[in-house]
Amino acid sequence: MSKKELRIGLVGVGFMGRTHTNGYKRVSDFFPDLQNRPVLKAVCSRTAATVNAFAEQWGYESVETDWKSLVARDDIDAVDICTPNNMHAEIAIAAAEAGKMILCEKPLSRTLEEGRQMVDAIEKAGVNNTVWYNYRRLPAVTLAKQIVASGKLGRIFHYRANFLQDWTINANVPQGGQGTWRLDVDAAGSGVTGDLLAHCIDTAIWLNGSITDVSAVTETFIKERVHQATGEMQKVGIDDACIFHCHFDNGSLGLFESTRYARGHKALYTFEINGEHASVRWDLHDLNKLEYFDHRDESIVRGWRTIHVTDGDQPYMDKWWVPGLSIGYEHSFVHQVADFLKSLETGEPCSPTFREALETQKVCQAVLDSAAAKSWKGVNEY
Ligand SMILES: NC(=O)c1ccc[n+]([C@@H]2O[C@H](COP(=O)([O-])OP(=O)(O)OC[C@H]3O[C@@H](n4cnc5c(N)ncnc54)[C@H](O)[C@@H]3O)[C@@H](O)[C@H]2O)c1
Repeated sequence: MSKKELRIGLVGVGFMGRTHTNGYKRVSDFFPDLQNRPVLKAVCSRTAATVNAFAEQWGYESVETDWKSLVARDDIDAVDICTPNNMHAEIAIAAAEAGKMILCEKPLSRTLEEGRQMVDAIEKAGVNNTVWYNYRRLPAVTLAKQIVASGKLGRIFHYRANFLQDWTINANVPQGGQGTWRLDVDAAGSGVTGDLLAHCIDTAIWLNGSITDVSAVTETFIKERVHQATGEMQKVGIDDACIFHCHFDNGSLGLFESTRYARGHKALYTFEINGEHASVRWDLHDLNKLEYFDHRDESIVRGWRTIHVTDGDQPYMDKWWVPGLSIGYEHSFVHQVADFLKSLETGEPCSPTFREALETQKVCQAVLDSAAAKSWKGVNEY
């Protein structure tokens, strides 16, 4: 079967630039039935030496040092945005106006207002789009979605999620610049709320439906840090930690916590859902496993069971090795590429679209506003 080429233009060659490129490179080998095939047409970063080295290492055909030149090229079908958050809106809006498909990293935007402008631009242009909330595409998380959707849990009472890290405890970690732009509010928009809780919120909305209102607290433990751009001590504008509770539209209660000050935790993303009949829980550190408890089991054998999500009839796993053998973090990106390519065949959106990711932005905004105002905020106010 001769495949149609999807010519990728990637902007940003850091952590996500690598994970996405790996996804583009592997997808056609492992998802041979797809009718589209990604081609690594061009990659962009601001420094020639860096972008040349990346193109050489990963196999891009050409390079650009200005994203505007990449967006203007006729030989690019899809623009992939892997830059810090402050560049998402500008690149996405320009790419939409140029009629390109867009794959944008999360969070969609720094602010809700920026996100709205992006959604307007993309919907006006009518271009295919997706936002890389990749955890949805880990097989155990997708299986959780199938279990919840099947109704096995019954009425849902509780949704609980954490995303814990410890890499900013040292007061000498600077803000701004390569690697530490996440501590600079101008580049990031917010701290753990937009960076980490956005993942938890996306998964939660996907699994358990809309969040209606929130009550949050945030804290900035280290109030000043050296800014890499100026070399000066400057006020820190991001939230270092955030805890919020909420109601979901289905009547359940949510409890979310994220911090970069949980000593010992590097990327502990966990969620647990408790229903009337059954519960599920998942932990990124053991990402192939889903834990399940069903109260309807015979009482003498009733207990939490660990499902090793590696069998051919479990999500995505027929594409990989043989039952029992694990896959990893990087496969969530291969799966998102595969789902995006499939969406081009079916005409169905590749979820989450920009419009869907805007719902996560609304919750993030409500969380930050609630913390600032020390009061509950309704998400539909936004
Ligand atoms: N889906 C996920 O799980 C996940 C994980 C990490 C990061 N992210 C998101 O991905 C995005 C990038 O994060 P990262 O960890 O890869 O950051 P990074 O700092 O590792 O890489 C960012 C890259 O963007 C480049 N860049 C910055 N400004 C640019 C410009 N004007 N033109 C061209 N290139 C520019 C930098 O040089 C760098 O190569 C962020 O929005 C982040 O929130 C998502």
